[in-house]
Amino acid sequence: MPRPIKVLIVEDSSADAELLVENLCQAGFEPDWKQVETEAAFLEYLHGGIDLVFSDSSMPKFSGRRALEVLKQRGLEVPFIIVSGTIGEEAAVAAMKLGATDFLLKGQLIRLESVVSRALESSRLQAENRKLEEQFRQAQKMEAIGTLAGGIAHDFNNILSAILGYTQLSQMMLKENPEVRGYLGAVLQATNRATDLVRQILTFSRQHPLERRPIQLPPVMAETLKLLRSTIPSTIEFDTSLATDAPTVLADATQIHQVLMNLGTNAWYAMKDRPGRLQVKLEKYLVDETCAATQAELKPGVYARVSVSDTGCGMDQATLQRIFEPFFTTKPQGEGTGLGLSVVHGIMKNHDGAATVYSQPGEGTLFHLYFPAHAGEATVATVEAGSVPRGHGERVLFVDDEEWLGQLGQKTLIALGYEVETTTLPAAALAMVRADPLGFAVVVTDQTMPGMTGFVLASQLLQIRPELPIILMTGYSASLTAAQVEAAGIRSLLFKPATLHSLGTAVHAALSPKTLR
Ligand SMILES: Nc1ncnc2c1ncn2[C@@H]1O[C@H](COP(=O)(O)OP(=O)(O)OP(=O)(O)O)[C@@H](O)[C@H]1O
Ligand SMILES: [Mg+2]
Repeated sequence: MPRPIKVLIVEDSSADAELLVENLCQAGFEPDWKQVETEAAFLEYLHGGIDLVFSDSSMPKFSGRRALEVLKQRGLEVPFIIVSGTIGEEAAVAAMKLGATDFLLKGQLIRLESVVSRALESSRLQAENRKLEEQFRQAQKMEAIGTLAGGIAHDFNNILSAILGYTQLSQMMLKENPEVRGYLGAVLQATNRATDLVRQILTFSRQHPLERRPIQLPPVMAETLKLLRSTIPSTIEFDTSLATDAPTVLADATQIHQVLMNLGTNAWYAMKDRPGRLQVKLEKYLVDETCAATQAELKPGVYARVSVSDTGCGMDQATLQRIFEPFFTTKPQGEGTGLGLSVVHGIMKNHDGAATVYSQPGEGTLFHLYFPAHAGEATVATVEAGSVPRGHGERVLFVDDEEWLGQLGQKTLIALGYEVETTTLPAAALAMVRADPLGFAVVVTDQTMPGMTGFVLASQLLQIRPELPIILMTGYSASLTAAQVEAAGIRSLLFKPATLHSLGTAVHAALSPKTLR
């Protein structure tokens, strides 16, 4: 079968051009060709879709040398073959030095087949190489971000803990001043965005430990949707339907929350400044052989399928092709990182699922998330909500090497009705418990501390008093898993930045007899 190729022939003689085309056909090609003899015409027809340029070396109004220069200036890597009746060896060498791919003598087109095949093959290899290099650069970029994120996450989360904690405390104390409470609300909102961004980057760079457990999606989704509803203006209609017969899935509730938040905020952005409708649906869905055949990432089976659709601006094909790429964004500079959907993609992959998208410009967008059904009992998992349970004067020991974080923890817990001692030294904490093993009802400790990690401190404290409730606080990048923590007898793992709510809930739960083993 003849091989179709698109060629541009730079030649002043139509007879020579036709002869070349005839020879191409005989050599087994099916050329779609155009003859040009001026720079202007060459520029007009030169584009990325051209497979090959043949050029005479000298013409009355143009030259092979100039054509080659123009090609390079355009940054196009199209193979360029000089075809000349007169070219001498020296001129041929000079042309090759300038970047011509090969040369042919007009009287000896016998080499045509091998020259063209070789040129096309080397151009294909070059393109492949460029693609691999680009992928490699991208992977390096990801790795750099991962390292950077891991490096700063600890400090950054501590900083956010302070902003979050003191703002929440101030809000609690400023009951009589709604205006200032409002300003603090804005600080909290910004802090939540920063927390979200750190989490996004950490998830993306896989520094965030994944904790998959068998869960039911409706309660987790309902919590997230409540939060989403409160962040999205009321001009946008909210329509949710969560089927209770959707299968149990093996999932990390925090990441489900993140996927929905990312899709929800994208939908909101797409409907900005005008009324619209955001629909979120959860249903049991059967992927059959036919459906699986069209979706490379899906195997036949039962899934919990989440649909998120909006009536926003929609997307064209070019955008659709790139949305899952990291850093791809159509938002103005400074407004978006372009990480949202790549995080969604990564999370779905981590859950052995898939995300698909349907969209047309002006017609809105529909995302489907497929979570494979898990056979097994679900445990209860929820993302934070509701009011904070309070203490009744129970004594808490708070250990953090950062003095100000200790003070913050102390103030927060005092505000919640506890009595609190703090120390920056793990060894001092150990001495305090040893001196009076029943003196504290709960110990809250940071994980990363010089001298002794929170994990080691906890193990030693448990040797003194095995049933002492201990809460371990850690940044996202910590390598500890919930299973390890549980095996060590530690009551719970709390991610930084801890909020008033998460800290209050964890301390309360640690004290409650329900959770005693
Ligand atoms: N629901 C949607 N409707 C229309 N376009 C969308 C929708 N969701 C995503 N897109 C397009 O995909 C691009 C990438 O989305 P992604 O969430 O990855 O990044 P972003 O939203 O631009 O930035 P960030 O999430 O950091 O704010 C968006 O810039 C937008 O062009
Ligand atoms: Mg986004």
